[in-house]
Amino acid sequence: MTAPLVDTHGRVHSDLRISLTDRCSLRCTYCMPEQGNEWLARESILTVDEIVQIAAVAVAAGVNTLRLTGGEPLLRRDLAEIVSRLSVLEGPGGPVEVAMTTNGIGLDRRLPELIDAGLARVNISLDTLRRDRFAALTRRDRLDEVLAGVRGAAASALAPLKLNAVAMRGVNDDELVELVEFALSIRAELRFIEQMPLDVSHTWDRTQLVTREEILDALGERWRLVPAGEREHAPAERFLLDGGPASVGVIASVTAPFCAGCDRLRLTADGQLRNCLFSRSEYDLVPVLRGGAVGDIDEVLRACVAGKRRSHGIDEPGFVQPRRGMNAIGG
Ligand code: GTP
Ligand code: 5AD
Ligand code: SF4
Repeated sequence: MTAPLVDTHGRVHSDLRISLTDRCSLRCTYCMPEQGNEWLARESILTVDEIVQIAAVAVAAGVNTLRLTGGEPLLRRDLAEIVSRLSVLEGPGGPVEVAMTTNGIGLDRRLPELIDAGLARVNISLDTLRRDRFAALTRRDRLDEVLAGVRGAAASALAPLKLNAVAMRGVNDDELVELVEFALSIRAELRFIEQMPLDVSHTWDRTQLVTREEILDALGERWRLVPAGEREHAPAERFLLDGGPASVGVIASVTAPFCAGCDRLRLTADGQLRNCLFSRSEYDLVPVLRGGAVGDIDEVLRACVAGKRRSHGIDEPGFVQPRRGMNAIGG
């Protein structure tokens, strides 16, 4: 075991988010353009062995949650192997938890192998329940496939699941109550996310933002919202609906950032460590993995943690969006 990953602001890092690919089966307008991106070169994508090598070093330093993201992680054919090799890692506090954030397409068919491999939890993105809206928003007419994934996961050993909905003005802001009611009907927890400046085309505009306050106002028309208390490291602030036990979450990354409690590090699919979604610097693991460079994974990891800023500053003047979009950083 090695020393914990503590940054210069005293935050201990225990969560590594691993992006498995920048590719995706959808084209959400807030994420990437219709034609997709200039994808990462296939040979630059980390192999299973490389991912496990990096994760093992992080876990030895106290990381206890590994979250697989994308792009869309289900596009990796070797996903079950990745899950099974990561889920056996053990750190100072015991075994790790392997979770995944997905758009849900094809999830229902792959649930048995993923659960067998040791997947513990899944979060699924679901911004709308209306087929026409879904097709316009994601530029793909695939809502039925997403819902099959959602229903499959809700009925599986991965339950209770979390659903993520980015709240967007003029797109789904009249559907917030309906989305919560759907989540309640399958015993899932819905979290609304404030839209962040992370789109590939850099078209984010503050006026599109549906704020935490607006979300709470809309939900407050239907339920009595009671703050659920301690959130520790979670980005979501939770509210009990009519006193609970059902709840809803709000991830207010723009108007009420949770940077003070942030315990996350990120690994991109091409082997770059990042200490923040919005960071403009990356810490390259490729020379260490493939090039016989001096130094080791642990040193790069610690340099990355040491370089972490107090906050992302996305709502401050002078903010510059990172070069990579959300799909290549990992949500
Ligand atoms: P749980 O452990 O289930 O709470 O996972 P999570 O909420 O961290 O994971 P998920 O991938 O579902 O993340 C939900 C959303 O939270 C993401 O889509 C982002 O919008 C936001 N988010 C996650 N990590 C960060 C972060 O480090 N900074 C900011 N600003 N937002 C984040
Ligand atoms: N702002 C907020 N959330 C976003 N996501 C993707 N792009 C953005 C953005 N610009 C969300 C997805 C998914 C998770 C991985 O990140 O909807 O729930
Ligand atoms: Fe794919 Fe997620 Fe981006 Fe939508 S937000 S295009 S599901 S990576």
